[in-house]
Amino acid sequence: MSQVVQGKGADDAARKLETGMTAKRIDGKAIAAQLRAEVAEGVAELVQLGVRPGLTVVLVGEDPASQVYVRNKDRAAEAAGFLVRTIKLPAETTQAELMEAVAKLNADASVHGILVQLPLPRGLDEDAVVRAIDPDKDVDGLHPENVARLVMGSEGLVPCTPAGCIELLDRSGVEIEGRHAVVVGRSMLVGKPLAQLLLARNATVTTCHSRSRDLPALCRQADILVSAVGRLGLIRADWVRPGAAVLDVGINRREDGKLAGDVAYEEVSAVAGFITPVPGGVGPMTIAMLLRNTLTAAARSRDLELGAPKAPSSDPS
Ligand code: GUN
Repeated sequence: MSQVVQGKGADDAARKLETGMTAKRIDGKAIAAQLRAEVAEGVAELVQLGVRPGLTVVLVGEDPASQVYVRNKDRAAEAAGFLVRTIKLPAETTQAELMEAVAKLNADASVHGILVQLPLPRGLDEDAVVRAIDPDKDVDGLHPENVARLVMGSEGLVPCTPAGCIELLDRSGVEIEGRHAVVVGRSMLVGKPLAQLLLARNATVTTCHSRSRDLPALCRQADILVSAVGRLGLIRADWVRPGAAVLDVGINRREDGKLAGDVAYEEVSAVAGFITPVPGGVGPMTIAMLLRNTLTAAARSRDLELGAPKAPSSDPS
């Protein structure tokens, strides 16, 4: 082992002694498996009531990463008992053809959830496609109607990765109400909806981004710190308040080809109270929440409340 690594290990050990902290590792793989099993029970109940929940995934083009994601989603959905269809369209598909495909799925009563895998090939208007999806079938929670429902605190479908973050906190016994949550990143897929979900759970929320001044100082205020930036090792130990819960939504490739998050895992583990690893933390929750959203959409399509999460608080105070 090199001097540098030994030196870093010694630093981590010293920090552990100083803070007395060794973070509890939040096992997203295990929690996601438990959630998928619960969803499978809900699916079986709906099937008993005569509804087989259906998920259709639309994949346009041949992006290798998207193909892997879609295959994983299909497998997980099939294993949980959903009726799964994948529509593969060539990269040359026109906007009109894609809109037509979405319209057909909107009209198909056997389809309860529609997911159009993003990003779309260049030349296709993602925003228009997302808006074309029936909001009640929008299991990604990206339609403006669902974004509005989230902000307004009414019942809708919530984006999967942020919903998975809340589930990880809840199932790890991390209290949210009244605590200061700092979210680094403001994307429509993660940062913005997560801030809303945390607010709905009565956290005090700060959203940081690339123009935020003194990011380390802002992060140090967090009881719950979430990084969703996509920058390897951005969050260092001295950015973290001792005992904080740290969720890492980043997925980055290291020089050695391995995946790693936004959080410098080893050193932050010596300070934080809870931490999610990458891989095996937030990532596995995304598909589990997609399945739960699809179950919720199917149940609501028949006015059943099965599997439906409670509406977030709309208390303005
Ligand atoms: N591509 C990467 N993540 C996602 C996601 O959550 N939903 C969709 N539709 N596409 C994605």
